[in-house]
Parts: sequence; structure tokens; C-alpha cells
Amino acid sequence: MLELDNVSTGYDDVQVLWDVSLRVEVGELVSLLGNNGAGKTTTLGAIMGILPLFGGDVRFRGESITEVSVQDRSGLGLTIAPEDDAVFPDMTVKGNLRVSAYGVDKEERRRRLERVYDLFPRLQERTGQYADTLSGGERQMLNIGSALMRDPDMLLIDEPSLGLAPMLADDILSEIENISNQGMTVLLVEQNVNKALSISDRAYVMEKGQIRLEGRAKDLMNDEKVRESYLGI
Ligand SMILES: Nc1ncnc2c1ncn2[C@@H]1O[C@H](COP(=O)(O)OP(=O)(O)OP(=O)(O)O)[C@@H](O)[C@H]1O
Ligand SMILES: [Mg+2]
Repeated sequence: MLELDNVSTGYDDVQVLWDVSLRVEVGELVSLLGNNGAGKTTTLGAIMGILPLFGGDVRFRGESITEVSVQDRSGLGLTIAPEDDAVFPDMTVKGNLRVSAYGVDKEERRRRLERVYDLFPRLQERTGQYADTLSGGERQMLNIGSALMRDPDMLLIDEPSLGLAPMLADDILSEIENISNQGMTVLLVEQNVNKALSISDRAYVMEKGQIRLEGRAKDLMNDEKVRESYLGI
């Protein structure tokens, strides 16, 4: 569904990614792992078109989208729940969700809202609450819920467990597993290697702007280098 072919990019003229190649098939949950500054968010920026490519190609459903604008990529069914969440703090939970489906007809918007509330009952309980009064975990649910309101075919999620207590991090990752089990294609960025691998089909490990390792999540969990460098075993 999504393929990156030798993608290089960076900020202004500072190169940060070097020949990054990866793919995500329809229905897969794939993790992009790596330490702080490895280039994970930058990779998502290249996929969403926020950063211009220095080289390489991004393909979605078999067609190059390298020349497609940020707005139009979203229209193709590619959506991100960003690292610095896209939540409007002075709007309610419901307001945030509705505004993410702006322009969508009422019936369809209601269906999407119900689906998000089914997935995250906590959000339904807090439907009238202002977003800036949500806990970190609830706010992350709202971030992902808002992305789902755009009814994507593929969802990119950037470090959903960042800053959350271990139990909340577990909750949010199992909710992502649920979303995946319902058929969504997901590219998940995480530093929480152990938990991410436990819910993923496959994974890529980045270091210094390059892909260092890739494989089936099960195999990576038993990989000596992954265990030493990322699992502390
Ligand atoms: N706006 C920017 N301008 C210049 N350099 C940047 C910018 N954003 C990120 N970088 C640099 O690009 C490199 C990769 O950063 P990136 O944010 O992609 O890492 P990351 O893997 O997402 O890390 P983290 O897990 O901390 O979010 C880092 O060296 C970072 O300092
Ligand atoms: Mg990041």
C-alpha cells in the first residue's frame, strides 16, 4: 500500500534521512523503531509531504505521490496522528472529533463518531469535556480518534505512548492493535520497542537517519542486536 524507495530528506539543506526504503502492505501493522533523533518523525514528514525529498520516491497504492501536495495526500486516504498532537485544547472532545470530519455529510459524520466512541469509550464518557482538561492518555486517544474521523485507508501514528505511564501506554497500544485488527493499515512510530513489536506484523529499526534492521516482529524480538540495543536484555 505504501512504499518508500531510497528516500532522502532533511531540513533546509541539512540532510537527515539517507536512502530510507520501507513498505507497508494492505492491512499490516508495521513499526518504525529507533532512539531519539533517529529520524522517525522525519520519515513520517516525508510520507505526508511536509518535507520535500532530496531523492527517492514515495508510492501510495502503487503510484508515486512525491509531487502530490500535503492536502491532497490526505484526500488519497493517508492520515497522520502526529507526535505533537493535533488536538484543539479549547474545544470539547466532540468538537475536536467533528471538526476533523469537516465538510463530511451529517449521517456519515455521525457514523464515524460512533465508530470512534466504540473504539474509545473513554472519549464518549468525556464527550463534552474541554480537550485541555484531558489526561495525557485521553488526549492521545483524541489525537488518534481525530485522525480516524478523516476515515483514512492508512494511518500513521507518531509515538502514541510518549510520556504515558506504563499501564496507559499498554492501553493505547492495545487500542492500536484493535484498530489494526479491524482492518486498518498502520505505520506506527515507537521508542517503546518491546511493546511495539508485541503488536506488530513487521518492523524497521532506524539509526542516524538510516534503516539498520528490518524483519518480522517475532524474529526481531529474538534478534541479538535488538535485544541488546533496545530491550536491554
Ligand atoms: N525542524 C527541524 N530542523 C532541523 N533539524 C531537525 C528538525 N526536526 C528534526 N531535526 C533533526 O533531524 C534528526 C531526526 O529527528 P526526528 O525528529 O526525525 O527524530 P525521531 O526519531 O522522531 O526522534 P524522537 O523519538 O525524539 O521523536 C535529529 O537530528 C533532529 O535534530
Ligand atoms: Mg519523533
